[in-house]
This record gives sequence, C-alpha cells and structure tokens, in this order.
Amino acid sequence: MTTREQNDFLTQTGLGTPIGNLFRRYWIPALLSEEIAEPDCPPVRVKVLCERLLAFRDTRGRVGVIDEFCAHRGVSLWFGRNEENGLRCAYHGWKYDVTGQCIEVPSEPEASGFCKKIKLTSYPCVELGDVVWIYMGPPEHRPPLPNFEWTKVPHAHRFVSKRTQECNYLQAMEGGIDSAHVSFLHRHDLRSDSLHVGKGAELTRETDARFEVVETKGGMVIGVRRPAQEGHLYWRITQWILPFHSMIPPYGDNALNGHAWVPIDDDNCMSWCFTHHPTRPLSDHELETMRNGGGIHVKLIPGTFRPVVNKDNDYMIDRAAQKANKSYCGVAGIAMQDAAIQESMGPIQDRSKENLVSTDNGVIMARIRLRKAALTAQRGEEPDGIDPATHAVRSASIVLPDNVGFYEAAAAALEAKDGVAHASV
Ligand code: FES
Ligand SMILES: [Fe+2]
Repeated sequence: MTTREQNDFLTQTGLGTPIGNLFRRYWIPALLSEEIAEPDCPPVRVKVLCERLLAFRDTRGRVGVIDEFCAHRGVSLWFGRNEENGLRCAYHGWKYDVTGQCIEVPSEPEASGFCKKIKLTSYPCVELGDVVWIYMGPPEHRPPLPNFEWTKVPHAHRFVSKRTQECNYLQAMEGGIDSAHVSFLHRHDLRSDSLHVGKGAELTRETDARFEVVETKGGMVIGVRRPAQEGHLYWRITQWILPFHSMIPPYGDNALNGHAWVPIDDDNCMSWCFTHHPTRPLSDHELETMRNGGGIHVKLIPGTFRPVVNKDNDYMIDRAAQKANKSYCGVAGIAMQDAAIQESMGPIQDRSKENLVSTDNGVIMARIRLRKAALTAQRGEEPDGIDPATHAVRSASIVLPDNVGFYEAAAAALEAKDGVAHASV
C-alpha cells in the first residue's frame, strides 16, 4: 500500500523535491523541433518540472531554452523580438543570447559592463529525433545523450507528436505500463484502428492474461502472456526505462510505439508519443492515420497541444457506441481513452485509497524503482536509466513455446539492432 507520504514523494517534481531532482539528472524531451522551425522565428513557452521557460532559435540556428522572464522587471520574454542572434525584451529592450546571457541593456553605456553581470537561467539543449531535449540538472552530472532507437532512425521512419494531459505524470505513466487494461478499455479498437489490427490484436482480446515482471538495468520489462495455438503462448512485452519512458508492444507489420511522460507541473504532464519503424519509412497511410489522431496519437485543437476531445466536453462520450459494444468506454480513439481514464482519477491520484492486484505488479515495480533511483540521486550517485546502453531496447510481441522463460527466449527480440526489423505478431 502506498502512503500519503510516498504518494507525495513520487508525484512532486518541483526543484528540490526528490523526484524533481531525479528527473533533472536526465535529458528531457521539452518541445518539438518544428515548434521553433526557422531561425529568428517566434519564441515558444515551455513549462517543464514546474519551471516556466522559453525556447527560441536564433539567427544562426542555435537553440536556447532560458528562463521565461526578463531579469529587468520580470516581463515574459514571450513578447520578445527574436532578432540578430538574441531575444530582445519587448518592454525596455534588454537583449539575451541562447545561453541566457544579457548582451545589451540600451539604457546603460556598454562601457559600464552592466549587462555582462546579468544572466538568465538557461539549460543545455540538443536536437535528436525531431525533438529538442534539455538538461536541467547540475553541470557536473550532465549525462551522455539519449540513445533511443526512435531518435536514431531516418526522419522518414518516424512520427512524433505530443499532447498535454491534465493529470500528474505518474498516473499517465502507470497507464502506459498497465497492460491489463488493453483487453478491456481498448478491446473494440483493436478491431477498428488500422494501426493496431492483426493476429496479435485478436489474441490480445483474450482476457485470460498473466503478468511477469523482470527488472532490467534501465528499468523493467513486463511480459503479458495469453493463450495462443496448442503448446504456445502469445507474449506482449513492454519496456519501461527510467525515469519516464515506455515502449508498447507492436501489432503485426505496424511500427513500434512508445511514450515519454514528462511533468509540466504536478497537475499536468506532456504525453510524448513516438512511432518508428526500424527498417522502412512510414507509409502515407500510416502518416495520414496518425495525423488524424489514429494509433497512439490524437487530434489536437489547432495551434495548441490540447486534444480536441477533452475534459471540458466530457471527452465527447458516446453512450450509444458504448452500449452497442463499439467502444468499451464510449470515448473514441485509443490515446484519448487512456487520457480520459487517467484524468478521471483527479489531478493527482490518492494512492492511499487504491487496492492493487497481481496485474498491477508492473506499476508497483515502477514506483519502487523510481523511489530507489531518487534516493540514489540524492546520494550523488548515478541513477538507473542514464547509461545510453539501457535505451537501446525494444518492445516485442512474440509467440513462444509454453515451457520457456519469456525473458530469456525473447532476449534477441528485446534488443534494438540496426537494420533488423522488430519482432511482432
Ligand atoms: S522588463 Fe524586460 S527590459 Fe524591462
Ligand atoms: Fe491504453
């Protein structure tokens, strides 16, 4: 059972909190590269781990992620002018470069050296896989770059989207590793969503599922087995990598999918959705489907990252579809079903009231590993999931004889190998 204290420990992510400090030890996906597509384009507000930041691309194409507020009198630099290698505050014209260094204060003579003393908080950034990642931790602990397969395949093999979710990161992430819900919440969509159909989708509708969790160096794998043909079991194997990455088992010839659950603040998170195929470009049909909110992606309100289907319109629940067994919960779309269900728990689920069962073992293990990693980081040591080797893994769906251990038997399928297709039934 999770106590109130343990729940606070795991869900608070501001500066100085144990989980906040832990997350600040990793590279974090902060925004899509396309949000700041061109040099000197408008700056973009980004909130990560309760910190309000501003991202911009300067005249030379360099990306900066800096404090949102001007050091003069606290105006939001979002109103600023992005020009001549710096962002100029719209109030009195103070100008900052991508490192947050103030490079001009019009009212003060340059010779005074005043502006040299002014520097805004700024975070190192890197663009990988069409995403701007930031590192918000102590400089001496800056880790090697992320090494997830989706960041390394050619651009045409990948589709990335993000959406805001109106709840704490932990309950969103727990939904991502709770494979037990798939046979219920998503059961009708496994027939209708063209990126999920296949033999595996039929086998997944089988509700007699057994769970096994195996701890790995970077996190854990969760194997869920269901009956397959005589003497065999169908295994769906999810990867979870600290601190907030998950990889969903694939279906048939479809691409691989994964998420990162990044806290915006303690009541909201960014659900990053990554789709990639290791060996081929995504087809026009796949891209079109995902852009229209299919697969793990959702349709967004134009100009925002808020889903069209959201809390304010009761997720456009269709009770007739629910009654007619067209939709298990009445919400359309796999990703929005997850979001609706997770947001319904409230901004931060009170875990002291829950009653866990054996299918929640993955969720329990993730909580234990996060707590352990936070304590490791507190001691100044390196937490799990920082070593890039732990990122080079895959999810898999695979049929195995019923007398073998899944983790050993699927070992090769769980490695990300250049030029080798993923194991998928
Ligand atoms: S508040 Fe930004 S220049 Fe004065
Ligand atoms: Fe789901």
